[in-house]
Amino acid sequence: MVGVRHKAGIIGCGNIFPMHAMSLKNLDFVDIVAVCDVKEDRAAAAAKKYNCKYYTDYKKMIDEAGIDVVHICTPHYLHAPMAIYAANAKKHVITEKPMSIEHHDAVEMVNMAKANNVTFGVIFQNHYNPGSQLIKSTLESGDLGKILSARVIVTWNRSDEYYSKSDWKGTWDKEGGGVVIDQAIHTLDLMRWFIDSEIDYVDAQISNRAHDIIQVEDSAEGVIKFKNNVLAAFFAVNYYAYDAPVEIELYCEKGTAKMYGAKATIQFKDGKILKKDIDENEGVFYGLGVKSYWGVSHIKQIKNFYMSIISGQTPEIDGEYGLKTQEMISAIYNSGKTSKRIYF
Ligand SMILES: NC(=O)c1ccc[n+]([C@@H]2O[C@H](COP(=O)([O-])OP(=O)(O)OC[C@H]3O[C@@H](n4cnc5c(N)ncnc54)[C@H](O)[C@@H]3O)[C@@H](O)[C@H]2O)c1
Repeated sequence: MVGVRHKAGIIGCGNIFPMHAMSLKNLDFVDIVAVCDVKEDRAAAAAKKYNCKYYTDYKKMIDEAGIDVVHICTPHYLHAPMAIYAANAKKHVITEKPMSIEHHDAVEMVNMAKANNVTFGVIFQNHYNPGSQLIKSTLESGDLGKILSARVIVTWNRSDEYYSKSDWKGTWDKEGGGVVIDQAIHTLDLMRWFIDSEIDYVDAQISNRAHDIIQVEDSAEGVIKFKNNVLAAFFAVNYYAYDAPVEIELYCEKGTAKMYGAKATIQFKDGKILKKDIDENEGVFYGLGVKSYWGVSHIKQIKNFYMSIISGQTPEIDGEYGLKTQEMISAIYNSGKTSKRIYF
């Protein structure tokens, strides 16, 4: 709708903050009116950069700053209470992944957004990578036939030194897990989006095999059995020497779809090949020290979220969608901690 302006407030001015702030700068119908961080120096620096007010108490920001949209960029354990507080204050909410630590909190987040009639979105920006879009649209076209099997590999690096610099990562109560809930969640979510079926069961193992100072898992493997009979194998560790490109392979009746990093290759059995990678020309300068591979997909998802508020439609990645991924992640932990198969 022409003329509608939105007033955004961002909670959490850490690593991911620039992705949200710069995304909003790219939308000419949104003003960043406030930022919030318990670390006052971070909040003040962000407010100076984006020419807005700052707060150190998120409730105060929500109550007093005159915002209508709240972005949640804080440690995992805070997503649920912050989203619920914001929804009850009639603010639209977009939260970083994961929705929450516990599945029941994610359910409450969705219910509160519904009860208050506000738009609720969960960041899984990799859906917007051109390669992901190619695989999704090719699967939807039926050209690949049915998916028969899937596999996911994530071998990244999060060292003890990395964990030692954070006051929340590596803990069960604040991060809610390790490689699964924080790193592999993106790739597992993409896999679930591609397969597009309800889950039948999850059977997984988790352990800490290579870190000294963390409580949570640095290794996970298992199978997710979908109701369309696809058995999806996954393997994830964060003790590899570097962040190797993630891999997803979907073996289908009429060909194979592969994701290597963000690059998609679809090889049909009749010899046809389709490829898509990140568009190098589609760049945005997020600021020095910001990881470049995060790319422009945050902007695309955040734009879709605001367009949904304006049109009254559901965002492409809404709370209901996020809840399904959260349920899968929670089931991996549940299975890993109890050594039991978790049926849905
Ligand atoms: N989508 C992605 O690719 C991606 C990438 C990185 C991080 N993330 C997600 O973003 C979120 C934040 O991660 P990060 O790496 O930026 O963490 P971070 O630790 O760098 O930043 C979190 C910030 O929240 C602040 N904070 C903590 N408690 C607060 C409170 N009560 N009120 C206000 N501020 C508070 C901290 O002081 C810190 O500045 C996490 O959910 C993480 O999983 C997503």
